[in-house]
Amino acid sequence: MIGVNSGAGFGILAREDFSELTYSLVIDHPLMAKAAQPGQFVIVMSHECGERIPLTIADFDRANGTVTLVVQAVGKSTKEMQQLCQVGTTLYGLVGPMGVPSPLAGKKKVVCVGGGLGVAPIFPQARGFKENGAYVIGILGFRTEKLIFWAEKFKACCDELILCTDDGSAGIKGFVSDGIKLAIERHHDIDEVVAIGPPIMMKACAETTRPHAIKTVVSLNPIMVDGTGMCGGCRVKIGDQVKFACVDGPDFDGHKVDFSDLMMRLRRHAEEEKSALERWSKNCRIMKQSPPDLQVDEMELPDPFDETGGG
Ligand SMILES: Cc1cc2nc3c(=O)[nH]c(=O)nc-3n(C[C@H](O)[C@H](O)[C@H](O)COP(=O)(O)OP(=O)(O)OC[C@H]3O[C@@H](n4cnc5c(N)ncnc54)[C@H](O)[C@@H]3O)c2cc1C
Ligand code: FES
Repeated sequence: MIGVNSGAGFGILAREDFSELTYSLVIDHPLMAKAAQPGQFVIVMSHECGERIPLTIADFDRANGTVTLVVQAVGKSTKEMQQLCQVGTTLYGLVGPMGVPSPLAGKKKVVCVGGGLGVAPIFPQARGFKENGAYVIGILGFRTEKLIFWAEKFKACCDELILCTDDGSAGIKGFVSDGIKLAIERHHDIDEVVAIGPPIMMKACAETTRPHAIKTVVSLNPIMVDGTGMCGGCRVKIGDQVKFACVDGPDFDGHKVDFSDLMMRLRRHAEEEKSALERWSKNCRIMKQSPPDLQVDEMELPDPFDETGGG
């Protein structure tokens, strides 16, 4: 595993804003780019006092020595990153690659499903399956046309691409589970479906493939703290076993995952997350009235473990 900080942080070389909430960051990190495998993630600290948050390696370019993260601004840390992480600035810490790489070899026909933000983390797997000789069917789901991103990247590595929007503004009108049904109608020889997105979406995907007995892999996103299997924060129930997503996953058999338990655990710290966001927003309002040289580390930032204490 590659360590936290080289001293000067890791440079942000490019940024693209896909919507008001979702943005990509291309990070200069040759060692991470060399080590990264599809399915793995990093733990990021945007600044010295920042919370440690897990983010999937959405792309890596070994020749250019870069890794790409795609982030959705949902709470204090991801909104703070949305403000601070501009081209020319640095990320304070990046640890990884973490998690078990997704097994990609030996599959003849696979379906790669990404819903909303899940489109980004499924990309390296779709490309990896293609590089390993599989016939790849991509299914991407968005709420509406203007939220679509990376469709061109998927076209380049998928043999078929099924685009789904909730409102029918692009592709087929419906959810990714409707896209899976379409793929199953067209192909009777699918080896595996891999689905990444919100837990409710991954659950729907697993229920769609269950009657057809198609192996279905999902990537779980429980709250993580250390990312090394020691804190217990990322505990998930897989059949009759307890696993830690950071070291045993994050990929698991979707037909065995206890999604109700996952969703309940994800909501456990909702009050603390809300108050962390409120404190941060208040500080931002104060910052706007302060002298321009006021630094981030002067802000009253909550202890990261206050927010995410797992167990
Ligand atoms: C393996 C893995 C890969 C992930 N990849 C991505 C990604 O590529 N892009 C992306 O935008 N998000 C990703 N996430 C989710 C991301 O880590 C959370 O959105 C982020 O930590 C939220 O922090 P916050 O302070 O902005 O929001 P908060 O208000 O603190 O939390 C918002 C919600 O995010 C979840 N969350 C909070 N803290 C954590 C934590 N330490 N670990 C995991 N989930 C948390 C909870 O469900 C919470 O309700 C991934 C999570 C995991 C476990
Ligand atoms: S984050 Fe997995 S055990 Fe701590």
